[in-house]
Amino acid sequence: MQITTERLRLREFAQDDWRAVLDYQRDPRYLRYYPWTDRTEDDAHDFVRMFLDWQDERPRRRFQLEITRRSDGRLIGNCGIRRAPDNDDEAEIGYELNPDHWGQGYASEAAAAVIQFGLNDLGLQCITSWCIADNVASARVLDRLGFRLESRLCRHQHFKGRWWDTLTYVLSAGEWQRPPAIVYIESD
Ligand SMILES: CC(C)(COP(=O)(O)OP(=O)(O)OC[C@H]1O[C@@H](n2cnc3c(N)ncnc32)[C@H](O)[C@@H]1OP(=O)(O)O)[C@@H](O)C(=O)NCCC(=O)NCCS
Repeated sequence: MQITTERLRLREFAQDDWRAVLDYQRDPRYLRYYPWTDRTEDDAHDFVRMFLDWQDERPRRRFQLEITRRSDGRLIGNCGIRRAPDNDDEAEIGYELNPDHWGQGYASEAAAAVIQFGLNDLGLQCITSWCIADNVASARVLDRLGFRLESRLCRHQHFKGRWWDTLTYVLSAGEWQRPPAIVYIESD
């Protein structure tokens, strides 16, 4: 399973990718809106292992693809779409990027490709997502993609010694406007 966009290639994880993942997941900028305060080699191994296990699901319900840059092949993050166990029509998307590559529209480009795959290939009717309300960049990615803000859950999560509000977003198939930058989608 591989998706190519104007600047990116989204493809299946391999076990060796844990090093590149750990490299950015240890960055305090990345950790800011997660409960984690640090990440270990074991954490990165387990993180990648989970996505490898998803590759073996039949029928496959969850996809988490590494984001590599076409210009240099470098792994710069990941982006995925996960169907709930009991509902074929709906899935959740999520994404993360190495902080050294933020602010260049990569997350929006990757997420758009995964949404297109979800609606076209998986036949989804509805895609959801959520983020910590203070995570302005993540909320902005969802706004840009045409998601509607559905709710703000006050004091919904507690970590790092404080409460955090969360935002839930929804995009229905009829609202989606496919951006032109997706080159092609290969799935097997
Ligand atoms: C969220 C994340 C993936 C965004 O990646 P990105 O590639 O920088 O996102 P994009 O460049 O596609 O778009 C970001 C948008 O947010 C805006 N933005 C970025 N940081 C911002 C900030 N601190 N305040 C306000 N806006 C911000 C950008 O200007 C851009 O909007 P624009 O197109 O209107 O200019 C990245 O910040 C990240 O990996 N964070 C850590 C992991 C994470 O939080 N994942 C999401 C969990 S819900």
